[in-house]
Amino acid sequence: MMPIESVKTRSPEYSAPEDGVLSARMLQDFNDNGFLILRDFVSVARCDELRNRAMQLVDAFDPETVRSIFSTTGQQQLGDRYFTESGDKIRFFMEADAFLEDGGLRQSKEHSLNKMGHAMHDLDPVFDAFSHTPKLAAVAKSMGFERPAVLQSMYIFKPPNIGGEVVCHQDSTYIYTQPESCVGFWFALEDASLENGCMQFIPGGHKAPLKKRNYRKSDGLLVTETLDDAPWDGEPVAAEVPAGTLVVFDGRAPHLSAANRSSKSRHAYTLHVIDQSCHYPAENWLQRDANMPLRGFD
Ligand code: FE2
Repeated sequence: MMPIESVKTRSPEYSAPEDGVLSARMLQDFNDNGFLILRDFVSVARCDELRNRAMQLVDAFDPETVRSIFSTTGQQQLGDRYFTESGDKIRFFMEADAFLEDGGLRQSKEHSLNKMGHAMHDLDPVFDAFSHTPKLAAVAKSMGFERPAVLQSMYIFKPPNIGGEVVCHQDSTYIYTQPESCVGFWFALEDASLENGCMQFIPGGHKAPLKKRNYRKSDGLLVTETLDDAPWDGEPVAAEVPAGTLVVFDGRAPHLSAANRSSKSRHAYTLHVIDQSCHYPAENWLQRDANMPLRGFD
């Protein structure tokens, strides 16, 4: 499979292999860059199916429930708990600019959401079917996962006009195992461009140390500790990709996205995978109920 030459981004970019088995060249590119772009991994029809299901879940959600949690003065713990207890649930998170001063929404409900998470892949049948396929299992196997486990799922709305910036970070900061094993599987459900805030990666940046670690202190509050305060080394490149593209990226790969000030949304779906042969610390923010054991891609 020949890479699609891209002078603009020089991204490691390929047509997705039919069976999901990554070639030696793809794996080399992933190891060199920390991310790999696989075009046409899923059909646009499958993307639309997932978007439609997300919209059904959005329809049933009342934003007032979330506004009251986050707007109550001095109730940071309440907001923290809404987040930290979402690892085995389906919860909604609003954009920072979603609400007007009078408590009303600036835009439609669909266009006010930042994300939905973090267990649609286990709790919703449509998300479950999208997230567990032989093709994804083949990708994970060829990347060297021994016992892959899909730890979390996120539906990212990146709405028009108010979709917020995500500053440069590494996902292993939040999804930490010993040794580190986190890999992100990011699906473009709509075309992503610089205009609507596509993903950007620093090629090779995953070879630097983990810069921060987020964990739960003994009092239950979350803290993000700086482990290495060196600046990011290298310039990010834009992963401008059409709907149906899968981007896999290392848990240490530095990535970011600009705010979406365009009139187009940029829906994406992300799975984060860890290897169950690695230690998963009890102080990680995401803890699941014992009745919801982790599953692989099968
Ligand atoms: Fe991230």
